[in-house]
Amino acid sequence: MRRREFIKNSTIAAAGLTILPSGLLFGKNSDKIRLGYIGVGLRGQNHVGEGLLRDDVEIVAVCDIQERSLSACRKKFIEANKKLPAEYTGSLDAYKKLLSRKDIDAVIIATPWQFHKQQAIDAMRAGKYVGCEVIAGLSVDDHWDIVNTSEKTGMPYMTLENVCYRRDVMAALNMVRSGVFGEIVHLEGGYQHDLRGIFFNDGKVPPGPGTKFGPEAFSEAQWRTQFNIERNGDLYPTHGAGPLMHYVDINHGNRFTNLVSVSSKARGLSAYIEELSPGNASAKINYKNGDVITTMINCQNGESLLLSHDTHLPRPYSLGFRVQGTKGLWMDVNQSVYIEGKSKNNDQWDAAKDWFEKYDHPLWKKNQDKALGAGHGGMDWFVFNAFVEAVKKKAPAPIDVYDSVTMSVIFPLSEKSIAEGSTPQLFPDFTRGKWETRKKTFALDDSGF
Ligand SMILES: NC(=O)c1ccc[n+]([C@@H]2O[C@H](COP(=O)([O-])OP(=O)(O)OC[C@H]3O[C@@H](n4cnc5c(N)ncnc54)[C@H](O)[C@@H]3O)[C@@H](O)[C@H]2O)c1
Repeated sequence: MRRREFIKNSTIAAAGLTILPSGLLFGKNSDKIRLGYIGVGLRGQNHVGEGLLRDDVEIVAVCDIQERSLSACRKKFIEANKKLPAEYTGSLDAYKKLLSRKDIDAVIIATPWQFHKQQAIDAMRAGKYVGCEVIAGLSVDDHWDIVNTSEKTGMPYMTLENVCYRRDVMAALNMVRSGVFGEIVHLEGGYQHDLRGIFFNDGKVPPGPGTKFGPEAFSEAQWRTQFNIERNGDLYPTHGAGPLMHYVDINHGNRFTNLVSVSSKARGLSAYIEELSPGNASAKINYKNGDVITTMINCQNGESLLLSHDTHLPRPYSLGFRVQGTKGLWMDVNQSVYIEGKSKNNDQWDAAKDWFEKYDHPLWKKNQDKALGAGHGGMDWFVFNAFVEAVKKKAPAPIDVYDSVTMSVIFPLSEKSIAEGSTPQLFPDFTRGKWETRKKTFALDDSGF
């Protein structure tokens, strides 16, 4: 759907509302936007850092339930010589007071996953534009609730999936759109990252290997490890699925139709703890989440996708992207490209960097000076910038609500597939048929985002 149509439809959808989005529907572009943050732990502070660097953003309020996070956040404002934001704390519901402020255009949500859905829904109902960290909800219904709320309120929702903006991922997108790989046939990617030191983190500075998780632990070890104990599925599909969706225009002329997931046994986390601390009770826990979850997805237009969730075993980091078409492919793990008839030698890999320099995405070329100092190799600047620019223009985000929930719902769908003996699961069509005609919005040229 074109932006203008979205706004028009949103206007109609919102006509019966008592709370009208603050300036979204009838306002004009803003030079400066006012942000509120819900959750200022490690990731939230990263987004605070991005906001403090910009003249077009004012962070007016933050909410968190831990003093440790709030004080680290305060320090960032003091170091940047910026006015301290109002703070909301004291209960799990404190964020509602932040949402009741009329001077906030948009919120960034960077809390544990179990809070995302309700906080996002409450924010949209309060007329705030939502940028939410990855994982929209924990069930398929949660994802529908987010879509329905966004449609009903007219408020946009964006998953802040930074890997979509990784430089090599975007260069590969440029190659796909330039036809270098030919017609795309198969894609792979995933979350392949040894996170054992994140799941067990005693809060040492600098962080060292720890054995604690739960309330006494630090950052994600406080809450994320519990998901590894309770749930078996691809708990974090968006880093892989987000970029891959753009290569084959999912929700923009194509769609995921069904998926199947398989789970390996779970040994990595127990083995890790036993090695560090022999006899430790955490080594005896029956971790439900298999060490390697593999998910295969079919696309309407005939492409296949393979996603991997692999975060409990020793391994160097690689998101394992593979983009393969009728003329050649990119493999992330050996950082290589092969294009038939164009690579230097027949049947031999070229260094991917040679191709990526040539096909560097125009958005990266234009913004590299601003982006390069930012987190995760610069992609954090891009995702934050995309969100801010969309709010300023009062436009739907380049990763809109339909794309956001599509990449995230793989979590509960993969879980259901595994629970039912690796049976295929139909993929919900959150666009309700609009995927056939929706035009692409993501990273179209150097003027977009
Ligand atoms: N895109 C990325 O590269 C990336 C990287 C890290 C984390 N993340 C995501 O960011 C989110 C936060 O992760 P993190 O690493 O910052 O975790 P964290 O544990 O460091 O921070 C979470 C913060 O939320 C606060 N919080 C918990 N419940 C709250 C509530 N009801 N209201 C307000 N605050 C509340 C906690 O006190 C904590 O300060 C997660 O969704 C995570 O998956 C994304």
